[in-house]
Amino acid sequence: MTVDPNHSHSTTESGAPRESDQHSLSVGADGPLLLHDVALVEKLARFDRERVPERSPHAKGSGAFGEFTVTQDVSQYTKAKFLQPGATTRMLARFSTVAGELGSPDTWRDVRGFALKFYTEEGNFDMVGNNTPVFFVRDPMKFPDFIHSQKRMPDTGLRSNNMQWDFWSLSPESAHQVAYLMGERGLPRTWRNMNGYSSHTYSWNNAAGEQFWVKWHFHTRQGIENISNDEAAKLAGDDADFHRRDLFEAIERGEFPSWKVSVQVMPYADAKTYRFNPFDLTKVWPHADYPLVEVGEFVLNENPANHFAQIEQAAFSPSNTVPGTGVSPDKMLLGRVFSYPDAQRNRIGTNYNQLPVNQPISPVNDYGKEGSMQYHHSGNAPVYSPNSYGRAYQAEQGPVDNGWESDGAMVRSAYSLHAEDDDFGQAHTLVRDVYTDEQRAALVETVVGSLRAGVEEPVLTNVFTYWKNIDQQVGEQIEQQYRAQA
Ligand code: HEM
Repeated sequence: MTVDPNHSHSTTESGAPRESDQHSLSVGADGPLLLHDVALVEKLARFDRERVPERSPHAKGSGAFGEFTVTQDVSQYTKAKFLQPGATTRMLARFSTVAGELGSPDTWRDVRGFALKFYTEEGNFDMVGNNTPVFFVRDPMKFPDFIHSQKRMPDTGLRSNNMQWDFWSLSPESAHQVAYLMGERGLPRTWRNMNGYSSHTYSWNNAAGEQFWVKWHFHTRQGIENISNDEAAKLAGDDADFHRRDLFEAIERGEFPSWKVSVQVMPYADAKTYRFNPFDLTKVWPHADYPLVEVGEFVLNENPANHFAQIEQAAFSPSNTVPGTGVSPDKMLLGRVFSYPDAQRNRIGTNYNQLPVNQPISPVNDYGKEGSMQYHHSGNAPVYSPNSYGRAYQAEQGPVDNGWESDGAMVRSAYSLHAEDDDFGQAHTLVRDVYTDEQRAALVETVVGSLRAGVEEPVLTNVFTYWKNIDQQVGEQIEQQYRAQA
């Protein structure tokens, strides 16, 4: 990346064309401003830091570079250049645990992060997902509390199952994700043996201006494999970096892992009337309603030359979108587009996008300036827009091609309900209809083991009720086995 003050238009810091340097995104001409206006938030946050640690969640992880190839034609859904038939794009992947610190064991039971960065010619596109298709909460206001409950006690500095189950059992929307986490997916054998998901609903728009809602799926070509609680505990002691080592050594051997890339596509208008709220991050869209549409595949074929420079300093963010793609009304996602660049300005430094691993391959022409460790600069070009000296700036007005209609009084509220919205229905389907008898028995054993490690009243009673709400029989088994062993 070089900052190119002679570029024909101004861009975001991630290199995508900027819609406007002059107008912020508002609800109507006189309306309130919107948190997901990346251009405004980026500009103000950057300005705030002009005069001059481990990731907060997902601290432990590793990754590799690779290549994404589009094998199918999805141009009817998106005009993004990197998603056109035959396109190949260099990329970076990073896998991680959520709660553990930088040196924590790779095989502690946890959700796994699945973060991808695509270096496209229209700017960086990031997909910062997990190995599960849903999440624990559906409002960003609850995310810091959720992470606090998974990390350490304020007095002892110890992790606490009591704290985890207290949060989950008082947050019934977590049921679906907890049912995944306590199942086999909580302990993948290797990062190569797990799927990835956007989890969120994102938007795509095509050359004709039509918009779609999409969920991304990344299916491992190595096959899904998981490990038992005993194997995981042994590995945590024997080789805390087991997953990091596995990925690095497989690539060194020339065994390049790959994933098939697909999307579920929902026509724009369906969202209003679909039986579930399609922007609720605790829900999947059943494939019977929206089948998978294949897009292509990616392969990881190049290890980092320097872990710190290329993995630790990598900055993935759901705010990195490119033309033809966008975010959605998912409140979690709208919170995330603010949180990641903000965390990275703090964690890596104001000019983190100038580091080689984060640099877009497309030209950058943004009006952010100075701050700690500025490397690229715009020479003596005007540092303001509008200017009379030929440095480009954007001044688009009017509807945006990846937006949506929004109206109503300002409220603090849960989502408005769709016909089949609830907290426990899809968790029940997972536990009762997807899991086999053997998998259900293992889940019961895992939950009982977790409860026996320090969970106390009143949390215990809440947890038994929580599981009975998911599945009466499984809830009863958990309570009986716990009491039998107590
Ligand atoms: C409002 C909800 C959320 C907030 C505020 C949040 C915030 C954060 C922050 C601050 C980081 C550290 C970023 C950095 O220092 O580079 C992070 C990392 C990460 N988050 Fe979230 N997060 C949220 C929800 C989610 C969800 C729903 C997913 C998955 C679908 C997710 C996946 C990840 C991953 C994979 C990473 C690690 C990225 C990497 O490898 O560098 N997060 N999150």
